[in-house]
Amino acid sequence: MTTDAYIAGLPKVELHLHIEGSFEPALMFDIAKRNGIALPYDSVEALQAAYNFQDLQSFLDLYYQGMNVLQTEQDYFDLTWAYLTKMAAENVQHVEIFWDPQGHTDRGVAFEVPLHGIKAALKKAEAELGISHQLIMSFLRHLSEEQGFATLEQALPHRDAFIGVGLDSSEVGNPPEKFERLFDRCRAEGFKLMAHAGEEGPPAYVRGAIDTLKVDRIDHGNHCLDDPELARRVADLGLCLTVCPQSNMRLKNCLDIRQHPIRAMLDLGIAACVNSDDPAYFGGYMNQNYQLIQDGLGLSRAEIGTLARNGITGSFASPARKAELMANLEAYEAEAPKA
Ligand code: ADE
Ligand code: ZN
Repeated sequence: MTTDAYIAGLPKVELHLHIEGSFEPALMFDIAKRNGIALPYDSVEALQAAYNFQDLQSFLDLYYQGMNVLQTEQDYFDLTWAYLTKMAAENVQHVEIFWDPQGHTDRGVAFEVPLHGIKAALKKAEAELGISHQLIMSFLRHLSEEQGFATLEQALPHRDAFIGVGLDSSEVGNPPEKFERLFDRCRAEGFKLMAHAGEEGPPAYVRGAIDTLKVDRIDHGNHCLDDPELARRVADLGLCLTVCPQSNMRLKNCLDIRQHPIRAMLDLGIAACVNSDDPAYFGGYMNQNYQLIQDGLGLSRAEIGTLARNGITGSFASPARKAELMANLEAYEAEAPKA
């Protein structure tokens, strides 16, 4: 069995996926057309050619532009269903996905529209594809804490629809401390907490996410490795890092896959897992992300298994579902041909 085939068949979970980042150019053109919106590109190919990013911000500019065409519940349903059917084909059995409500409400789309469309697709996937899920509401960190509080107020009537909150968008210059009061409130409301930290930002931002925001999970976390004491602490805490290899390459946060930080994380015993972040923009869903680090770092099957286990353990699935996911993984490992 080739490693490609082994990874393709491996039961996987994804914990770091921005649903707006799964918006494939062809679907974007279809939805733009039905909503009577003109995209500033002549063709799918011209749009794809623009996906040549220098850093996080150059990506975010196109990411926000892309989501502008989403307007109706059906649009959000179609977006989410397209992602989930791909994940079923890759044997992804559990997903935890972010949405950025402020990216929609700020241009006049009611808070409920994306929420209902996304949730309907997630429920259909649970029933028809056997993919379990959690939904996470992410605050945009380039906006103010006050705007975050206003979004939280809109969200609270729907609190049962999502398990927790995240923090994303432009990292450098928007440290975790900017959102301390908002996260205190979210914790008091009983939400799980996570934050993007150490994607482009320094180790101090990872420390801020842990000590000030008191997160349950860190998205990316790569730069914790720049501070050995912090890296040791992340390992000792068993804090899950949702690492996104293809994203790191495409945003030039890693220049050589042979030097990708997930190798050092594994060696330090950090609970890292593999995710796709914004696959339509970065050119790779779950299988390709595993494949990329496998090719670059020559992972053993035991290491691939550790990454897959870290995803299950770090998830917010129920204990019963976690046990089921773990049993599926163990059965696969026991049965897959050795080479
Ligand atoms: N929003 C969508 N993708 C993101 C990323 N990789 N970092 C920060 N914010 C994001
Ligand atoms: Zn992300």
